[in-house]
Amino acid sequence: MSIIAVVGNKGGTGKTTLALNIAAALAQRGDSVVIVDADPQQSAYQWRLTGADDNGVPAVVAAAMGLDKTVRALGEAHAHVVIDCPPSIKATQAEQALTLADHALVPVQPSPMDLWATTHIAKVIERLRPENPRLRALIVMSQLEPRTTLSRLMPEAAAELDLPVAAAGIRRRSIHRHCALEGRSVFQAGKRGADAAAEIQQLLTELFDHG
Ligand SMILES: Nc1ncnc2c1ncn2[C@@H]1O[C@H](COP(=O)(O)OP(=O)(O)OP(=O)(O)O)[C@@H](O)[C@H]1O
Ligand SMILES: [Mg+2]
Repeated sequence: MSIIAVVGNKGGTGKTTLALNIAAALAQRGDSVVIVDADPQQSAYQWRLTGADDNGVPAVVAAAMGLDKTVRALGEAHAHVVIDCPPSIKATQAEQALTLADHALVPVQPSPMDLWATTHIAKVIERLRPENPRLRALIVMSQLEPRTTLSRLMPEAAAELDLPVAAAGIRRRSIHRHCALEGRSVFQAGKRGADAAAEIQQLLTELFDHG
C-alpha cells in the first residue's frame, strides 16, 4: 500500500489537478486507488461529482472522521491512497497527511515566490522525520510554459532547494481545465489528453523509482 500526499504552501498551483490525475494514472494501471479530499474547499470531491460514475476517475472520499482514521481505513482496502491537501502547510490536514504519507508531491508554479514558499515544506518534513522516516518528497514543476525564460530557469533555481525536483514537469495545457470541467482525468480525454497523460505517467514512474 502506498500513500501519496499532494501538498503545497500556495493556492492554485495544481495540487488537486495533480492528485486527480496521478490517482487516475494508478487506476489506469489496474491498481485499486482512492482519493481523500483533505481540503475544506472540497474541489477534488466536486470534480468527482461533476463527472460520470464510470469515467475512470477514482472515488473521492471527504475526510469526515479525521484524516488519520480515514486514510488508515481506506488503506486496508486499496493499493494506493492519494491525499489532496489544502493550500497551506500550516493546515492541520497537511501536516497529518505528511505524517501518514510514503510520498509527498509538491507542485510549484514557475515563479521565484512559489519556489521560496517550499522551504517551509522542507522544514515541516524535517520536523516530522522522526515520526515518518519513510517519507520521500518531490517538487513537481507545475503549469510550465517551456517557451518562457522563467520556466526554463526554474529547474536550475529549484535545484538550490532542500527538496529534490522531479525530472518530469507538468506543462500548462488547456486540456487540464477542460477535464476538470467535465469531471474527467486526462486519461479519459483521448488524443487531446495524450501529451498531458504522458507527463503524468512519467512522473508516476519517477515517483516509484525514487523508492
Ligand atoms: N497543468 C495545468 N495546465 C493548465 N491549467 C492547470 C494545470 N494545473 C492546474 N490548472 C488549472 O489551474 C487552476 C488551479 O488548479 P488546482 O485547483 O488543481 O490547484 P490547487 O493547487 O489544488 O488549488 P488550491 O490551492 O485552491 O487547492 C485550475 O483552474 C486548474 O484547472
Ligand atoms: Mg486544490
